Amino acid sequence: MAHEVKGIIARSKGAPVEVTTVVVPDPGPGEALVDIQACGVCHTDLHYREGGIGEDFPYLLGHEAAGVVEAVGPDVTGLAPGDFVILNWRAVCGQCRACLRGRPWYCFATHNATQKMTLTDGTLLSPALGIGAFAEKTLVAAGQCTKVNPAIEPAVAGLLGCGVMAGLGAALNTAGITRGDSVAVIGCGGVGDAAILGAGLAGARKIIAVDVDDRKLEWARQFGATDTINSTVGDPVEEIRKLTDGNGADVVIEAVGRPETYRQAFYARDLAGTVVLVGVPTPQMQLDLPLLDVFGRGGALKSSWYGDCLPTRDFPMLVDLHLQHRLPLDKFVSETISLDAVEEAFAKMHRGEVLRSVVVL
Ligand SMILES: NC(=O)c1ccc[n+]([C@@H]2O[C@H](COP(=O)([O-])OP(=O)(O)OC[C@H]3O[C@@H](n4cnc5c(N)ncnc54)[C@H](O)[C@@H]3O)[C@@H](O)[C@H]2O)c1
Ligand SMILES: [Zn+2]
Ligand SMILES: [Zn+2]
Repeated sequence: MAHEVKGIIARSKGAPVEVTTVVVPDPGPGEALVDIQACGVCHTDLHYREGGIGEDFPYLLGHEAAGVVEAVGPDVTGLAPGDFVILNWRAVCGQCRACLRGRPWYCFATHNATQKMTLTDGTLLSPALGIGAFAEKTLVAAGQCTKVNPAIEPAVAGLLGCGVMAGLGAALNTAGITRGDSVAVIGCGGVGDAAILGAGLAGARKIIAVDVDDRKLEWARQFGATDTINSTVGDPVEEIRKLTDGNGADVVIEAVGRPETYRQAFYARDLAGTVVLVGVPTPQMQLDLPLLDVFGRGGALKSSWYGDCLPTRDFPMLVDLHLQHRLPLDKFVSETISLDAVEEAFAKMHRGEVLRSVVVL
């Protein structure tokens, strides 16, 4: 039996998003039907509607979600109706070279559900990041569902499905920050603030937040930044050096995705330090650095995809830390909204007024 539910689609490039009826079929083999309880509004959803990710319109938007499993396909094990889950956009396949050599966070053979959701006239929808959760129900691959403790608020849990996990994971998994490290984070939106939180959790001694907006720097302090730099006022490389006894930071996390901020990150780290790029650049961007500096400064230049997370390992652990009051993930929720306010939430995001607007169903 197919279900007719309310959902948010981007019908064509640049057009405002629409509330419409989406037809969601029952789960086939390997699939799960999930009742969505909450879904965060992420920059990537806006990129989809602006045509920045592909041309496969219409898109069913939304991908930072938590909900309850309503039904599973005939062969699905380890997941049952009633389970509270966070959806992930990289279901580990278990078969590829990365998986088989024990590095599943590099799995790129994503096992998402086959595209089956449609409009009432039969037009096939492309779900954002293989999820499509700005809808009352969605159909995903069972491997995209990670069971977590249902005591957490759905609006908070869903954020672990994308941006917040990317930032936390950049600090904890990719950078491998440890007790006593000095860390600088350039760009303090939701992702950068999550990196700040992760640095604190790992025991960093100094956490320097850099942004161009004082309001963002104020929020960064609430996530644990010990020092802040407005890079429109002073040179962030100089300022980070001053704050680290002239050395530079052990780890610099770039959470903007621009060549100029990457360059700042590169020069603001200590000799043999680590740079982690989490911000996503556009295809046109180029980076020009003296090769001698790359050689001479040593260390590690890394990038972090989805925080190098393993959902089955990381989501339940982070939810537990939150429930024990050791990880204030609720601070990322600037507002909760209804499905029909997504377009307005894009505008607020664009003006830098929110860390996350979260649709609650
Ligand atoms: N790697 C991943 O898996 C992953 C996942 C989600 C998002 N991202 C990317 O992370 C980046 C940040 O996402 P977000 O949701 O936090 O976005 P955001 O727009 O909320 O935050 C960006 C922040 O950077 C600041 N900024 C802009 N220009 C700056 C500059 N020149 N110097 C310092 N700060 C500057 C802005 O004021 C803002 O606070 C984006 O590029 C996004 O696409 C990556
Ligand atoms: Zn794999
Ligand atoms: Zn996202």
